[in-house]
Formats: sequence, structure tokens, C-alpha cells
Amino acid sequence: MTEKNSWLDLHGKVAVVTGAIGGMGTKIIEEFAKQGVNIALIDIQQEKNETYAKEISEKYDIDTLAVCCDTSKEHDVELSVKTVVEYFGKVDILVNTAAILRSSLFEELTLEEWEKTMSINLTGYFLMSQRFGRIMIQQGKGTMIHISTLLSRFPETYSGAYSVTKAGVNMLSRQMAAEWGQYGIRSNCVLPSLVKTPLSENFYTDQEIAEKRENITANKRIGTLDDIANAVLYLASDRSDYTNGSELEVEGGLGIMMGDQIAKPGGRKEYALRNR
Ligand SMILES: NC(=O)c1ccc[n+]([C@@H]2O[C@H](COP(=O)([O-])OP(=O)(O)OC[C@H]3O[C@@H](n4cnc5c(N)ncnc54)[C@H](O)[C@@H]3O)[C@@H](O)[C@H]2O)c1
Repeated sequence: MTEKNSWLDLHGKVAVVTGAIGGMGTKIIEEFAKQGVNIALIDIQQEKNETYAKEISEKYDIDTLAVCCDTSKEHDVELSVKTVVEYFGKVDILVNTAAILRSSLFEELTLEEWEKTMSINLTGYFLMSQRFGRIMIQQGKGTMIHISTLLSRFPETYSGAYSVTKAGVNMLSRQMAAEWGQYGIRSNCVLPSLVKTPLSENFYTDQEIAEKRENITANKRIGTLDDIANAVLYLASDRSDYTNGSELEVEGGLGIMMGDQIAKPGGRKEYALRNR
């Protein structure tokens, strides 16, 4: 069952989602499907992508198309645009999630690793956005959501070029927002951090790590895939029509907790209670 009269009013729209079978991609796609959005699923892993596209289409009675594409390759992206536009006739929403993160000490980072991360995380977002953006310009309307990270503002230590690429994603998004707002196109980022996904789940089976992670957020909890999908759907809908070039943090207030990290004797709250 899809929601026809929902507050988001996304029924009948067409969304393109990259990283379609990743942790966030699958959840975002399912939430779009519940709203009656037809979806082009873009991923480099075609077999799994086709299976998921079929499953979602049958479950929610929406139209889906699984497209095999390496988002860092111009030819692949151009073919994807052609295939999607021929099939659906329009593109209302683009969500970029396809990215990689590789552990590395910065002094040991090879040029090959640097370029690989740059090509998927930044060039991939650029190619997808520019090429689908051209279609949106012709349509006179469209919205793009780029999954960045809170660690586009702070270095993700020992993760090579990851934060550098995501800082680039934020500026890429603002660049398009500034130039294409006049054509009815919006471009916004979602900045998650500490999200429990199938890949990160193993961190949270370790009680000590889980508690340490919860305690550095303002909300004292780890984010869920629902938290991220909700933000994406809001930015995809006309409910956010006057929001353009923004970065929406979905991280339980982690980024505002710097002051809370500064130690005081016996603990910050206890110190305040003793000295008020
Ligand atoms: N998981 C987190 O906790 C977290 C936190 C902050 C930000 N993010 C960001 O969220 C996004 C999604 O993360 P995730 O955890 O779902 O990742 P994931 O690794 O589960 O999924 C990534 C998907 O992208 C696909 N992909 C990789 N390279 C590709 C390419 N060149 N072309 C096409 N598809 C490709 C993979 O096949 C995979 O399906 C990423 O941009 C990531 O940086 C994640």
C-alpha cells in the first residue's frame, strides 16, 4: 500500500537513487516506495540491484528500474540518464549516496587510493548531478539531495581522502543551488553521523564502543536509517521548497558537543552542581 494523500505529496514522482543497495540507499528507496514514488535504482552491483528493484516494485506496486552504473564513469552516467529518461519520461528527484570509505594513515595514502575515493565520492556526485541536472533544467523543476557527512566539516581521522571529498560535496551542492535555483532546481545535503547500518552494526555489538558513541551525541542515542530517510524525503518534497543550498545535520547534535568534551574536575555537570 502506498500513501496517496500524505503530507509529503510525493505520489507519482520519479526518483533516481545512487548506491541503491547500500545501507542508506535501500532504506531511502523503501520510504520513497511507500509514498508511491517510482524509482530508478542505480548501483554498480547489478544482480542485487535487480533483485531489490523487483522486490520493492512488487511490495509497493510502484514502477522501478535497476540500472547498472559506475557513477564515476562519464559513459556509464550518460547511458543511465538516457535509459532513465526514456523509461520514465522525467526525473523529479536525485539522491546521491554512492560513496566509499577506506582506512589509511594519511602519510601512507597512495595517489591511487586518493584518486579512487575522489572519483567515486566527488566526481560521481558531480557527474550524476550535472547530467540529471540538465534534464531538470529542461523540465524547469527538480530537487537533489546529496548524502554527505558531518565529517565533511571535521576530519574523519585515518580515513584517507574521505572527509576531503565530502567537503567537496557540500560545495558542489551549494554551487548548483546558486546557479540553478533560477531554473526551479534545489540542491541540498544531508549530513549524517553515527548511523546504525548493516555495515556499522558490528560496532554496536560492543557495549563499550556503543555507549561511548551514544554519549558524545546530545541526544544520547545512535541514529537510525529512518532518521536519514525522513530527512531525505522532506528535502525531496515541496514542503522544503524554500530550502536551497543547505546542509541538514542528522546526527543527534553530535556537532554541537565540542564544549561538552572539555573536562572539568569530577565531570562537567557534577562540577556545575557543586559550584552553582
Ligand atoms: N553509514 C554511515 O554511518 C554514514 C555516516 C555518514 C555518512 N554516510 C554516507 O552515506 C552514504 C551511504 O552510506 P552507506 O552506509 O549506505 O554505504 P554502503 O557502503 O552501505 O553503500 C554504498 C553503495 O554504493 C554502491 N557503490 C559504490 N561505488 C559505486 C560506484 N562507483 N557506482 C555506483 N555505485 C557504487 C555500493 O555498491 C553500495 O551499494 C555514503 O555517501 C556515506 O559516505 C554514511
